[in-house]
Amino acid sequence: MAAFNTLDDLADGQRVLVRVDLNSPVEDGVVQDNHRFDRYAETVRELADRDNKVVLMAHQGRPGRDDFVSLDQHAEILEEYVGKDIQFVDDIYGDDAIEAIEALEAGEILLLENTRMADDELPEKAPEEHAKSDFVQTLSPYFDAFVNDAYSAAHRAHASTVGFALELPAYAGRVMEAEYEYNTGVAERARETEGQVTMVLGGNKSEDVISVVNNLGDAIDTFLIGGLPGELFLRAEGYPVGMDVGDMDLLDDQWDETKDTLEDLVANRRDEFELPTDFAYEDDDGERAEIALEDIEEKTTGYLDIGHDTIDAYVPIIEDSEAVFVKGAVGVFEDERFADGTVELIEAIGRTDCFSVVGGGDTARTLSMYGLDEDNYDHISIAGGAYLNALTGQELEAAEVLIEQAK
Ligand code: 3PG
Repeated sequence: MAAFNTLDDLADGQRVLVRVDLNSPVEDGVVQDNHRFDRYAETVRELADRDNKVVLMAHQGRPGRDDFVSLDQHAEILEEYVGKDIQFVDDIYGDDAIEAIEALEAGEILLLENTRMADDELPEKAPEEHAKSDFVQTLSPYFDAFVNDAYSAAHRAHASTVGFALELPAYAGRVMEAEYEYNTGVAERARETEGQVTMVLGGNKSEDVISVVNNLGDAIDTFLIGGLPGELFLRAEGYPVGMDVGDMDLLDDQWDETKDTLEDLVANRRDEFELPTDFAYEDDDGERAEIALEDIEEKTTGYLDIGHDTIDAYVPIIEDSEAVFVKGAVGVFEDERFADGTVELIEAIGRTDCFSVVGGGDTARTLSMYGLDEDNYDHISIAGGAYLNALTGQELEAAEVLIEQAK
């Protein structure tokens, strides 16, 4: 258990500044509902129920990208989950924000504008430097405590994630507490488990998969690989997959960057991982079709999921496991036609009596999209980069600041 202060240590009836992570997919300007809202709703509701004046900070997207939008829609979505009004002010630490903060009554909730719209927020700086910023210095006097619940942004040393913890008594929120405990504990849990330990690795980046395989190789018995990394590992074995076709721009650059490491892994550690033996693609009628790896002479289409022979090979390995961890989806699960691989593997974990942590990017969304029961898993992470950092033993600066401050 991490040695930081939690909401159990926080007195009721205070003015509390809370960093959450509501960063969400945005499609045509519309913020997509996702697991982050229902998770953070629990922390927010608890703080409001305990008569605190609750002021929320969060970011959305990155400057220059299409997903860099205001948090006004986030306030509306979060309100549904919290079951209480959430006020929104399109200001971060200017006069309008201060006025709205001062007007709050006990039990009321206010969401400030996207923190990344403040110039002070983004430069990667030491916590001590961020603590001196106008952003942190202006807002801190209006609060009694800072709660950092944004585990999924804890690998970012930004003003709102590391600065306030030095100026105000600092606490971890409920999401931070659970995510830190389970995700940072994966390596230890895997090493302590006596039976079979399996990890499903998917997603889009071979670099991420390589760093997990390198960091956890001694602790995991079998890596079940899918997604784009699955194709790239097979390309390293000499199969005609793992290259871009048509207007795709996802694989060739990665291949150039990770080719040597992938070739080394397939040459020297092949017994540690399983690779796909078939793939699913979209046929001319727009239906799911499958092809065996051995029948592919030349790649002419994108592969969007592992095929059923691969699923049939991976599922028994999961069923024999004492612990299973997931990092990333093995197919494009957002499209029902290509969700079989991800859903059937996660389903198998759910019906197996094993210790399990499921995470990586948006993988948690599979459970709500396909009606899987969350109670069948020990932990479902809503973090992307921070989850990867935890699995690969890298520090999460914002969590470290909380631990330091608790000493
Ligand atoms: C995430 O969604 O993983 C976090 O909010 C971090 O976002 P970032 O990668 O844009 O910093």
